[in-house]
Formats: sequence, structure tokens, C-alpha cells
Amino acid sequence: MDLSVRIGALTLKTPLLSASGCFGYGVEYAGVVDLSSLGAVVVKGLFLNERSGHPPPRIVETPAGMLNAIGLQGIGVRRFVREKLPELRKRGATVIVNVCGTTIDEYVEVTRILSDADGVAAIELNISCPNIKEGGISFGCDLGNTHQVVSAVRRATTLPLIPKLTPNVTSVASFAKAAEEAGADAVSLVNTFLAMAIDVETRRPRLSNVMGGLSGPAIRPIAVRMVYECSRLVRIPVIGIGGITSAADVVEFVIAGATAVQVGTASFVDPFIWGKLEAGVRDYMTRHRIERIADLTGTVDVPGEKRT
Ligand SMILES: Cc1cc2nc3c(=O)[nH]c(=O)nc-3n(C[C@H](O)[C@H](O)[C@H](O)COP(=O)(O)O)c2cc1C
Repeated sequence: MDLSVRIGALTLKTPLLSASGCFGYGVEYAGVVDLSSLGAVVVKGLFLNERSGHPPPRIVETPAGMLNAIGLQGIGVRRFVREKLPELRKRGATVIVNVCGTTIDEYVEVTRILSDADGVAAIELNISCPNIKEGGISFGCDLGNTHQVVSAVRRATTLPLIPKLTPNVTSVASFAKAAEEAGADAVSLVNTFLAMAIDVETRRPRLSNVMGGLSGPAIRPIAVRMVYECSRLVRIPVIGIGGITSAADVVEFVIAGATAVQVGTASFVDPFIWGKLEAGVRDYMTRHRIERIADLTGTVDVPGEKRT
């Protein structure tokens, strides 16, 4: 049985990746999960410099999900390379770094530093965080800006480049296309949905940042629809993200068109989820006589639609 998948020049052992921001810098989970057994560890978003993020409260539980407005707290790219990357290397993890920026120059600079470091397998370009005022989503919500930032980073690295798209747009597929045309090797989607919760007793927003990003099972059907739409429009691989809690959810994204998936919120609920997901995917493949998971990608059977 072959669980490996290809993302550009990169071959991943399995299609199961940790989602950025939900797995720290990976090393924090080394006692819980064998990091080398994951398809890849996608680490928390990194800017050039350290950031403290937003003040608490930064997290609120919602029906079938959660809101967060962490504000991309992080140690900065240089400390990551110095303090975390050697440990990740030692543990045999395939490391994908989520790169953030407030300007195109910053995205390029962070990417250059990571490209010169030993042990980074790919760059996930975060142009989709809804929780910061400058940079991030302002690139991901404008087709021209998306093309510009992806092109600039493309010129700065030979590493596989994976722009991470926001669902907070009318047509996410057109952004996937813009990223592809700018030289992306794959796209990942979705980041969180801009959302809000209010404490009705105090009439105060529940998050200090007023708004935050919704994740978890509540968003899954929307994310599946977006993966389906994007994978129909682009030739590059699509990495599906949003509300995965079970092997059936993984398989659903793959059938919709995903080559690989990322799991975020569910790993807070169950840090041991990884082995269960892999076992469940293997069980599905056995029952359906599928030898290579890659053969399942985009096999959704829409009545009346011709399969390619
Ligand atoms: C607490 C938290 C922090 C996150 N931080 C990041 C981040 O740094 N960069 C990023 O691209 N996405 C970040 N995300 C979004 C997730 O990577 C993922 O796209 C989203 O949560 C949907 O997947 P899920 O429903 O499996 O959690 C964060 C999500 C949560 C819940």
C-alpha cells in the first residue's frame, strides 16, 4: 500500500500534514508523535522578527469549532533556524515553514533565510491570515497582489512553494489560478474564516481582537467545496485543510481533489490523532482495493460530469 504523495519535486511519506499554528514548531509534540511519521510538519507562521501577537482572550470555543485571533505570535525566522530546525532535522521531520510578511520584501527575506538553512523541505506562503492588520490577507484577497507576492518569492527560492489561500473571497479558485500562474508548485486551502462572537451579558466581543478566524468541523463542507473548485481549475496539487477529524474526512478531501491534507483544530482535541487517521486511511484503501492514495485524488463521481 502506497501512501506517498508528490508536491512539486517533494515526495511526502503520507498525505497527513500538521496545519500551521496548531502544532507549534513541531518539537513541542515530539514526545507525543513520531515527527518522521507525518507527511510533513507545517510549523507556526514566521515573520522576520519576533512578534507577541494579540492580548488574551485569543481563543473562543464555538459550535463544532473554534475562533482564534492569536495574531501570529512567533519567535522570528532566525531564532527558528537556530533553535528549532536542528531538533526537527534530528528527528527526521519533513519541515514545511509557513512564511508571513507585512511587505513583499519581508516575504522574500524570510524565504531567503529559510532557503539557505539546512532542513527546510518547502515554503507555505501565508497570504491568508485574517487576524493581522498589515500584510497577510491583504495579499491573499487581491488577485494582483497574490500574483505579485508569489512571483517575487518564486524568484527568491528553488524550494517547493505553496501559497496558502484564504476562503474569505468570492472565488477562491481564481486565486489558486493566480498562484499557479505566478509559479506556485501547489496551493493549500483553506485558512480560517473571518468570524466573530459576542458575550451577550457584557455585550463585548469574546476576542480582544474583536474578530478572529473560525476553524474546526464547522467549516469542513465549505473547505471541501473550495478544494473541489480549485482542483478543477489548476494543474498543481491542492492541499486540503478545514475541519478534518477522521479518516473519512481525509478521504473526502482527497476524493474532492486534494493530494494531501492538513489537520489543525482536531489535533488540539486529540494529540494522538495521527496514528488513527493513518490507520483509518489504510483501512479505507484496503476495503476499496486502492493501492496508491494518489490514485484517489479527484475521483469524486458527480453524476452527469465526465471524469478526466
Ligand atoms: C490557533 C490557531 C493558529 C493558527 N495559526 C496559523 C498560522 O500561523 N499560519 C497559518 O497559515 N494558519 C494558521 N492557522 C490556520 C490553520 O492552519 C488551518 O488553516 C485552519 O485552522 C483550518 O484547519 P482546521 O479546521 O483543521 O483547524 C491557525 C489556526 C488555529 C486554530
